[in-house]
Amino acid sequence: MNKQVKIISKEEVDIQHEYMSRVRVLNNQADRSWRAVVRTFGCQQNEADSEKIAGMAESMGYEIVDDEADADLIVVNTCAIREHAELKALSITGQFKHLKAANPELIIAICGCMVSQEHRLDDIKNRYPYVNFLFGTGELYRFPELLYKARVGNERFFVVEDTEGTLAEGLPIKRVSGFKAWLSIMYGCNNYCTYCVVPYVRGRERSRMREDVLAEAKQLIESGYKEITLLGQNVNSYGKDLGYDYDFADLLNDICAIDGDFIIRFMTSHPKDASHKLIDTMAANPKIARQFHLPLQSGSNGILKAMNRKYAREAYLELIDYMRKMIPDISITTDIIVGFPGETEADFSDTLDILSKVRYDNIYSFIYSPRRGTPAASMNTQIPKEIQSERFARLLELQHKISNEENQKLVSTTQRVLVEGISKNDPGMYTGRCESGRLVHFASDTDLTGKIVNIYIERAETFNVFGKVVERK
Ligand code: SAH
Ligand code: SF4
Ligand code: F3S
Repeated sequence: MNKQVKIISKEEVDIQHEYMSRVRVLNNQADRSWRAVVRTFGCQQNEADSEKIAGMAESMGYEIVDDEADADLIVVNTCAIREHAELKALSITGQFKHLKAANPELIIAICGCMVSQEHRLDDIKNRYPYVNFLFGTGELYRFPELLYKARVGNERFFVVEDTEGTLAEGLPIKRVSGFKAWLSIMYGCNNYCTYCVVPYVRGRERSRMREDVLAEAKQLIESGYKEITLLGQNVNSYGKDLGYDYDFADLLNDICAIDGDFIIRFMTSHPKDASHKLIDTMAANPKIARQFHLPLQSGSNGILKAMNRKYAREAYLELIDYMRKMIPDISITTDIIVGFPGETEADFSDTLDILSKVRYDNIYSFIYSPRRGTPAASMNTQIPKEIQSERFARLLELQHKISNEENQKLVSTTQRVLVEGISKNDPGMYTGRCESGRLVHFASDTDLTGKIVNIYIERAETFNVFGKVVERK
């Protein structure tokens, strides 16, 4: 049990930069372009990791493209949160077999949370012989070295070190958007909710130094980013491991003090650590979006205990009351797991009851998926699929009704909206997101993509609202 978090030194990162140059040299030797595809299957942290992989690949002379058909390098960044996520990544990887057959030079690498589990590593080793190499979440920073090794040698290799996670600074990032950015402030999780695989595959909580986070935020804002989402599995414990007195609320204050017109978001907050200080900080800082994602998981105290969530429904509701008191227009969203082992009809009613009490604007709900090695997976009170599905449908039905009613309340209000681009459903319209995260659609003669505008809401549906641009004050 000597596993530890490994802080990657500047010298070790420099070595990776050296490998980036070596691969670049290899690429420059051939008189053609090199293309890489990075596929992402997980959460925002996983997307942020993919942006690092893409950044490193670009530094090595690869053009980042979307179509695997003409790629020289494919990286599959996997997720392990539910079985469905794993199966999706495996199935896509299966489809790459014919690409490799057509182009033996193609390099296929698999990384992310799924491969940090031994049984999945073995699966890929044995069942996907055309995968060149594999690396765990803690080895992400070594991608240049591993790719170089794959380029010059013929061996397959599988690198998942026995650490509690790593922390590396100074790797290039190629962000997907030019106006919305993910900014990881910490990695890992110490909470061990009994259903969850994250603490096993992402290691222990570790915070980036405040100087590094602030420098990155400043650089993003200076280069025109309009929205920054601070990422961590439990952002409320940011700073606890840093050895100086500085917490998440302090970090938010310091970021808001940076000059510029921008919106700050963050996720995810664990209710057991969401403090009044954090809520007061939000209330005092208009740059922080009026939105709070506070995962409930279950409304039943018995189930919360079995989940090891370390709060009771009463404390959760108290926190919601405080938020609404301090920030009356706050939009609250949550995550719910349906059909956790032992969940009775009464437990499930407690969850529905909280939905009716809190009236979330939106919920992200999941049917419980047993994860190998977690305590909940070996509980002998697993709920049959039919019951899970039936409860899931009832949960959604109630929430859709609430979402619709809450959306109607927005009609005749003016919302601050970051414009994301042309609407996917109607090329004549633009789409953006309110501070609450709701999708807003409106018409415009000029391209407002990447701008923050005011929209007067005229009409609302369950998942969308519609309006028109009005002058910003
Ligand atoms: N750190 C975040 C959650 C990250 S995982 C937090 O604690 O809020 C995102 C969501 O996936 C969780 O909130 C939970 O609702 C869901 N989830 C996690 N493990 C799951 C499992 N085994 N089955 C179904 N849903 C799960
Ligand atoms: Fe998983 Fe719980 Fe950690 Fe969230 S807080 S990542 S649900 S163990
Ligand atoms: Fe995220 Fe999935 Fe890993 S949700 S932390 S990519 S297991």
